[in-house]
Amino acid sequence: MKKMLDLVVTQNNQLNQSYCLIKLTTTDNSPLPEMFPGQFVEVKVDGSPKTYLRRPISVNYIDKSKNELWLLIQAIGDGTRKMCAYKTGDIVNLLLPLGNSFTIPDENKAQELLLIGGGVGTAPMLYLGSCLKEKGFKPTFLLGARSKGDLLQLKDFAQYGEVFCTTEDGSFGEKGYVTDHSVLKNTRFSSIYTCGPKPMMMAIARYAKENKINCEVSLENVMACGFGVCLCCVEKTREGNVCVCTDGPVFNIEKLTWTN
Ligand SMILES: Cc1cc2nc3c(=O)[nH]c(=O)nc-3n(C[C@H](O)[C@H](O)[C@H](O)COP(=O)(O)OP(=O)(O)OC[C@H]3O[C@@H](n4cnc5c(N)ncnc54)[C@H](O)[C@@H]3O)c2cc1C
Ligand code: FES
Repeated sequence: MKKMLDLVVTQNNQLNQSYCLIKLTTTDNSPLPEMFPGQFVEVKVDGSPKTYLRRPISVNYIDKSKNELWLLIQAIGDGTRKMCAYKTGDIVNLLLPLGNSFTIPDENKAQELLLIGGGVGTAPMLYLGSCLKEKGFKPTFLLGARSKGDLLQLKDFAQYGEVFCTTEDGSFGEKGYVTDHSVLKNTRFSSIYTCGPKPMMMAIARYAKENKINCEVSLENVMACGFGVCLCCVEKTREGNVCVCTDGPVFNIEKLTWTN
C-alpha cells in the first residue's frame, strides 16, 4: 500500500555533470516500506512554483543492510536539478511505492535473463538485477549510453551479473546502440527486461517479438499525480487506454500496440 513519508538524505553524490545518486532513509529508523523492482516514487520538490507537481523517479536500489532507498537522478529541469542539490540531512517527502513491478520468474534458474537499460533507464535495472540474483538467477546486463562518462554504477551492476555496454561514440564497450550489441547474436535469452528512451525500447520489443523472446518494458510517460487520478500518463494498449502510473509502468510487449 502506498504511503506518504518524510525521508532523510544520507548521501547525495554527483556522478557526472548531469547525474546524481541520492540515498535516503527513514527519520525514525523504522523499516522502509517493501518495494519491488520497476516500482517508482513521487518526489515532492519544494521551493519553486514550477515544481508544484511531484516528480516520478524509479527505485534504483534498496540497500537492506542500511535501510536505504537509492534514487538515480538525471538533472534535466527545475525539479531534477533541485533534487541534485539536496544535502545530507535534508528531509524529502515521497509518495511510495507506486506502480507495478517486473515479473520475477518462478523457478528454472537456467533461464537466460537480459536486462537492458539506456540512459537514465538503467536506474530500475540495478534493483531488478539484485532481486533476480537473490532468487538465484544470473542476469546479464546490457547498458547503453552516449559516451563512457554516462555509463553509471558499473561496479554495482557487476555484483549481480555480467555487464555489457554500448556507447554511441565508441568510447567504451561496443560502438552503437544496445540493439547492435553482439551479445544479442551470441546468446539465446528467454526474457528481456528494459527501460530507456522509447525508440530504444520499441527496437528491443521488435527484436524480442521477431525472436519469440518474452519481453517487459518500463514506460516513462509524463506523469503528474502518480496514482491514477489525472489521466495524463495514458498509453494505448490492446485492451484500450490505461494509466501507466497504475497499470504500469511495466508492460509485457504483448499488451502494447508496438508490435504486430
Ligand atoms: C515511472 C517513471 C520513472 C522515472 N524514473 C526516473 C529516474 O529514475 N531518474 C530520473 O532522473 N528520471 C526519471 N524519470 C523522469 C523524471 O520523472 C523527469 O525527468 C522529471 O519529472 C523531470 O522533471 P523536471 O522538473 O526536472 O523537468 P521539467 O522542467 O518538468 O521538464 C524538463 C524537460 O523534461 C521533459 N520531461 C518531463 N518528464 C519527462 C519524462 N517522464 N520523460 C521524458 N521527458 C520528460 C519535459 O517535457 C521537458 O522537456 C521517470 C519518469 C517516470 C514516469
Ligand atoms: S499520473 Fe495521474 S493518472 Fe497517471
